[in-house]
Amino acid sequence: MRLELVVRKEERKTVIHLGESLLPEMKRHLLAKHHKNPIVLLVDANVLRLHGRLLRMHLQEFRPLIVSVPSGEHSKTREMKARVEDTLLQNGIGKDSVIIAIGGGVTGDLAGFVASTFSRGVPFINVPTTLLAMVDASIGGKTGVNTSKGKNLIGTFFPSEAVFIDTHFLKTLSEPEFKAGLVEVLKIALARDARFFRFLQKNAKSILRREPKALLEVIHRSVALKKAIVEADPEERGPRQVLNVGHTMGHALEASSQFRISHGEAVVRGMLFETLLAQKAGCLSPKERKEILATFTRFGFPVNARIPPLKKLALFLAADKKSKQGKPRFVLLKGIGKTVSTKGQHAFEVRPALIRACVEELHD
Ligand code: GLY
Repeated sequence: MRLELVVRKEERKTVIHLGESLLPEMKRHLLAKHHKNPIVLLVDANVLRLHGRLLRMHLQEFRPLIVSVPSGEHSKTREMKARVEDTLLQNGIGKDSVIIAIGGGVTGDLAGFVASTFSRGVPFINVPTTLLAMVDASIGGKTGVNTSKGKNLIGTFFPSEAVFIDTHFLKTLSEPEFKAGLVEVLKIALARDARFFRFLQKNAKSILRREPKALLEVIHRSVALKKAIVEADPEERGPRQVLNVGHTMGHALEASSQFRISHGEAVVRGMLFETLLAQKAGCLSPKERKEILATFTRFGFPVNARIPPLKKLALFLAADKKSKQGKPRFVLLKGIGKTVSTKGQHAFEVRPALIRACVEELHD
């Protein structure tokens, strides 16, 4: 399967390949476009341990420089970016190189950020190995790192030249990582496609069993939805914000825990909170929220998860990138498959009393 994502700015185009065992296809791409360029593989340490032999077997003729990136959100820092850049410089890597990320969202965001500034920009290829990175992080050119003040606060928009979504990597993905991807799948369906949401409800068992046909369909539909959103708004000036449903609170929870809770866990709690907020704001009916929670339960997500008190979250909510004058803004579900939008605005300030009431209802 092949999709093309056209990012209008500078007419850059990302070709998205989807299928099982795509390394030979990536090799053909490199031979056709980059056979004379030094190749750098930035690989998540776990992926290198599990798939290093396979990667070397397919890519050895390029004699790539392989740089291992420690797994986990703690690698998404300015310090790690500098460390990677120093390694490239020490190895004589220059303007003619190509950087390939092989890993989850952390590796892809970090590698994309390095690629966007190294020698003022070198071609970037993304090979997402987690479900989350396949359906979300690798699509749409966002790169960046976290700081102690919050998630993704430093970064660039830098479309990759190609994305190779190879479902082979899902075979070794841990259950929590797989579930973290499913949260983003549910999120995009909730924000944009009620029929897809119902498909997910109906096929929860085969998806959880990772049946190849179901997975391909889930990834294809998620990527197609995200592609349409990114094409309409590559740099998140408006409509792309809908992808942040559940994430204003999700990112605040993640950052306030110093990234001890995973992105997936944080977004599940963020969704619980933001669906309650949408209900209390009168956008989502109690029946619809019940259906959403029942679907989360069907996928094995805890719908009774708790969140910390507001005083622990307030600064992180204020630091969210959608905030204006330090006031957090939320994407509000308007039923299933739609979000509230008025006059080109997709994220909204909500009365502090409403935020407080929802936190109080959900906190331990
Ligand atoms: N992950 C949200 C976005 O790419 O816009």
